[in-house]
Amino acid sequence: MTNDDTTTQETIAVFGSTGSTGRHVVRHALAKGYKVRALARSPGKVPVEDGNLTVIKGDFKDLAALKETVQGADYVICCAGGASGKAYEAGMMIAFIRRLWPLLVAEPALKVFLFQSVIFAPKPDGSLPLLLKLLGPVAAFLNGNTPMLKDNTEVTKFIAANKSDRFDYIVTRPDAIAEKDGGRALTTDQHNGSLATITFANLGGFTVDALKDPSLYGTCPFVVAAK
Ligand SMILES: NC(=O)c1ccc[n+]([C@@H]2O[C@H](COP(=O)([O-])OP(=O)(O)OC[C@H]3O[C@@H](n4cnc5c(N)ncnc54)[C@H](OP(=O)(O)O)[C@@H]3O)[C@@H](O)[C@H]2O)c1
Repeated sequence: MTNDDTTTQETIAVFGSTGSTGRHVVRHALAKGYKVRALARSPGKVPVEDGNLTVIKGDFKDLAALKETVQGADYVICCAGGASGKAYEAGMMIAFIRRLWPLLVAEPALKVFLFQSVIFAPKPDGSLPLLLKLLGPVAAFLNGNTPMLKDNTEVTKFIAANKSDRFDYIVTRPDAIAEKDGGRALTTDQHNGSLATITFANLGGFTVDALKDPSLYGTCPFVVAAK
């Protein structure tokens, strides 16, 4: 077992386990010795089979499946997202997080909830570097992702406003992600202007490791590629 400083095996619940980032989160978490509980609409799409992996079939609207997924979790990661462009169901993510939140608050072992957002989403106080503030709405409009950006922005505000005394949160804001390498994933409070992409594999590893980094608790770090 390589589950860092623990003698008992810790559990990570993952939402978005079949997605581009989530499948790497699942792999990395298992490799690190965690138990993983993953919600999936299509369990066959979860990329691995492992004795430490429990797959729960369900959708974000299925309260019983959400409850079963987070049951006993030490950490919860949401790296889910709706379809890109016009097919995105406006408000789906904030509706999901509102549904999930009371379940998180009720989980006695939960230490950290990590939500993967986007680089153009402001911090809860609305702040965002000027370049991103100018580029974000334009990029979102051109890609048909305005509802997705709005949704992610609302989620960040909701998480900060409903912060629990019982567990910490991290909202990661990754730069562009791709399958091909652009450099090691790094966290920063200030976007470094790098146009290099992070790999999904890299981001998956970063995401799991971030759970044990108290300097990230209660923050919304950008995740960029090292230059
Ligand atoms: N891709 C990028 O370049 C990029 C860059 C920065 C930030 N982000 C953000 O990171 C997040 C994840 O991105 P990604 O590209 O890794 O995601 P993705 O490949 O689009 O995967 C989305 C995941 O969410 C799941 N999902 C969606 N709706 C669901 C529902 N109603 N119930 C249950 N599961 C549902 C999908 O399940 P199914 O397999 O069943 O569809 C899938 O596992 C998004 O919010 C995105 O905005 C992405």
